Amino acid sequence: MDMQLTVKIIHMISITLLIGVIIARAFTLFIGVQGNQPNPVARKFFVALQHLVMTCIVLTGVVSLVIKNFEVQSWFYAKVVLFLVLFSSLIKAYKKDDQILLIQRRAGLAIAIVALIAILALVMMKPNFG
Ligand code: HEM
Repeated sequence: MDMQLTVKIIHMISITLLIGVIIARAFTLFIGVQGNQPNPVARKFFVALQHLVMTCIVLTGVVSLVIKNFEVQSWFYAKVVLFLVLFSSLIKAYKKDDQILLIQRRAGLAIAIVALIAILALVMMKPNFG
């Protein structure tokens, strides 16, 4: 199997796992919450899995970029911006900080989901902005 395809498959598997962990972890903001903090059940597992898949997505994304000699279409830049939105809103949603209200955490989660859906729409439609 060639390198490009292998990297792409790892990128896709990581994305599937990311979608899974975002959905599963979302329940911790609604069921069994403790004050402003999410449900602590399986926190370590979610943190570890989320770190792992985010790292894999970024690494495989960067390797794909190198393989393609950075020849990307304009929608790719929108994807990177949306990825940064996704990343920072997930941090906001689950940061271990009691100052962050539950409602703000849920808002962070909502923004993350919108960003994820927008990224998926972009990669499926590959719109031509130019
Ligand atoms: C949640 C975030 C992400 C999602 C859902 C996602 C999704 C995808 C999908 C579905 C493809 C395959 C598109 C196709 O060939 O039809 C793809 C390809 C690609 N992704 Fe991502 N991606 C994400 C994050 C990233 C990041 C952060 C980077 C860069 C650092 C990146 C770089 C790339 C590159 C360069 C390709 C092209 C691979 C190729 O054509 O061989 N992706 N992505």
